[in-house]
Amino acid sequence: MEKTVQIVTGGTSGMGLATARAVSKYGPVLIGGRNEQRLQEALESLRASGVDAHGARLDVSDASSVRAFAKTAQSIGAIGNVIHAAAVDMDNADVDTIVRINVEGTINIGETFYPLIQQGCSLANYSSVTGYYYQPNSEEIVLWSNPTAEGFGEAFKGALQVVDAPDAQLTPRMVAYFASKNFVMFYTKANAERFGRKNCRVFSVAPGSFMTPMLELQADNFDSIKKTTVFGRFGEPEEMAQLFVDLLDPRVSYLTGCDVLMDGGMFAKRTVPQLS
Ligand SMILES: NC(=O)c1ccc[n+]([C@@H]2O[C@H](COP(=O)([O-])OP(=O)(O)OC[C@H]3O[C@@H](n4cnc5c(N)ncnc54)[C@H](OP(=O)(O)O)[C@@H]3O)[C@@H](O)[C@H]2O)c1
Repeated sequence: MEKTVQIVTGGTSGMGLATARAVSKYGPVLIGGRNEQRLQEALESLRASGVDAHGARLDVSDASSVRAFAKTAQSIGAIGNVIHAAAVDMDNADVDTIVRINVEGTINIGETFYPLIQQGCSLANYSSVTGYYYQPNSEEIVLWSNPTAEGFGEAFKGALQVVDAPDAQLTPRMVAYFASKNFVMFYTKANAERFGRKNCRVFSVAPGSFMTPMLELQADNFDSIKKTTVFGRFGEPEEMAQLFVDLLDPRVSYLTGCDVLMDGGMFAKRTVPQLS
């Protein structure tokens, strides 16, 4: 795996940027995002800390942009780990945009990089603890099992269910975001066998609440969000980045086809009565 290109979508901000810095121990890093200024600032910051960093404009919701990004990666070297952090949140995007970026973007990244990824390397997707609050019904399972079907995004939206948990009064955007992140876990697991045939791994990691520009959109609720964790604090992007480095380590090469939750105990506290 040494010296392969480490690809990080959404590597221009927050946890993606921290992950890009951390996985540079495995090889040169290619980061991508839509905003040119953010991309340049992230590259400067990575290079200032000694990272062999490359950057390219990327819109994961656009299959041709993803293909061009993959070509850039191949021009740097053999394709190693692909870390897919790019996503939008329910606070900065409508239902259409959430499905286009979080759902179709995840498919575009998986399908484009699957044939290219080198043996021994991994596709690692960012999911979310919120994905645990959405369960696809039988109709959705059939639909989600054919993610490259024509019109998949529209069908995904059409099948979305009204969800009551964890809090009442979920908005359509919240449902779409929760479902999009459950889809990331589903798509990850659905890829386990074909990645395995290449001796590659695929897994997702579900963050709880981490202090990034995405979380800052919820600044009004900081105190109440912190209380949902067992430590009364947010996670730091560097903690998440370390988890990715550890999970990508070839010494844990039996780990694939699963989601790993790092949420400061939020889901456990919410779903299982805690001992006194
Ligand atoms: N922060 C949290 O508490 C939290 C909780 C649960 C899950 N997550 C998940 O963790 C991941 C990282 O989140 P974060 O908080 O670090 O986010 P962030 O700081 O908001 O960064 C998001 C990144 O995604 C990129 N991006 C968004 N849309 C894109 C597109 N269409 N094509 C390419 N890049 C795109 C952004 O760059 P441009 O805007 O320039 O494109 C940016 O680099 C996301 O998948 C998020 O859903 C975060």
